[in-house]
Amino acid sequence: NIRGAGRAHAKTILVGEHTVVHGTPALAFPLPALSVRAIAGPVGAVKVNSSVGQQLRFVTESTSDQTEPMSGPRVAVEEALRRWGKAGAVVEVVVDCAIPHARGLGSSAACAGAAVRAVADLYGESLDATELYELVQRGEQVAHGRASGVDASAVSADGPIWFQAGVSRPLTINLDAALVIADTGTYGATQRAVAAVRRKLEREPLRANRLLRRAEELIGSAAADLSAGRAEPLGSTLLAFHDLLDELGVSTPQLDNLVTAAMKAGALGAKLTGAGHGGCVLALTETGDAERVSAALRRAGAAQTWILGTREPHTTP
Ligand code: MEV
Repeated sequence: NIRGAGRAHAKTILVGEHTVVHGTPALAFPLPALSVRAIAGPVGAVKVNSSVGQQLRFVTESTSDQTEPMSGPRVAVEEALRRWGKAGAVVEVVVDCAIPHARGLGSSAACAGAAVRAVADLYGESLDATELYELVQRGEQVAHGRASGVDASAVSADGPIWFQAGVSRPLTINLDAALVIADTGTYGATQRAVAAVRRKLEREPLRANRLLRRAEELIGSAAADLSAGRAEPLGSTLLAFHDLLDELGVSTPQLDNLVTAAMKAGALGAKLTGAGHGGCVLALTETGDAERVSAALRRAGAAQTWILGTREPHTTP
């Protein structure tokens, strides 16, 4: 191949963000409406004709372009090249990303996933899910410090996942409902939010224990509700998880405001999703109510909203 291409997509965490860093499971959905494409090839020869979002490029083994947003993907690709016996290869990768940056939607992991897939395609390397996960996770550790790996798993998964301690499996879903994701338009820095939560949990070990046990219960009932098709109890669980995340200190007035707006508009439950300190909320609604809740969230100040059916087919990138 003279050029290689790869894709990945955004993700949204249903429950378990932050606590997953401390050992609980997390449940995550792919968000295929927001995708990333990457093209890899010889330096200077990579062009993207029609763009889906923001274009960023990097060159492996170069010292001049260690720009912040692409440092994770570059580390992931360089590690891939080493594994494939191509250490030191100089490759240019253009990443075309429709996922808004730093909103808890997994943009950094998705960019790394698409980039690694593009370079595998370029060299005709087969790439299984485990290897892709390990490479993207290597990049995430550069971008986010101690990441749990849930983002690295979810951005290349072809369906909703249950994730715990580096292991993921498909989530059973028998619930017909909708998830409405709304962006506050404010940035959340994952690394900072994760560090703040860690300090809080370390300062108060008893409270930490109680919160993590409570989180584990909520995540377990969320998984059971998805599998049994119970929408209303799942909604209550999401609200309870938002309160737990608030207790961990990662909510903001803008996030709380959107949660309240979603509930007033008839959502079954709502919570912040991702690292918090900014970023997005997620609301669970009956399928027929999704448009109305989405419009209410925009009136309440959301910069953008997306609707995802809980049983929507997820295409493999
Ligand atoms: C970020 O999408 C999810 C966090 O739990 C961080 C992580 O799991 O690495 C906040």
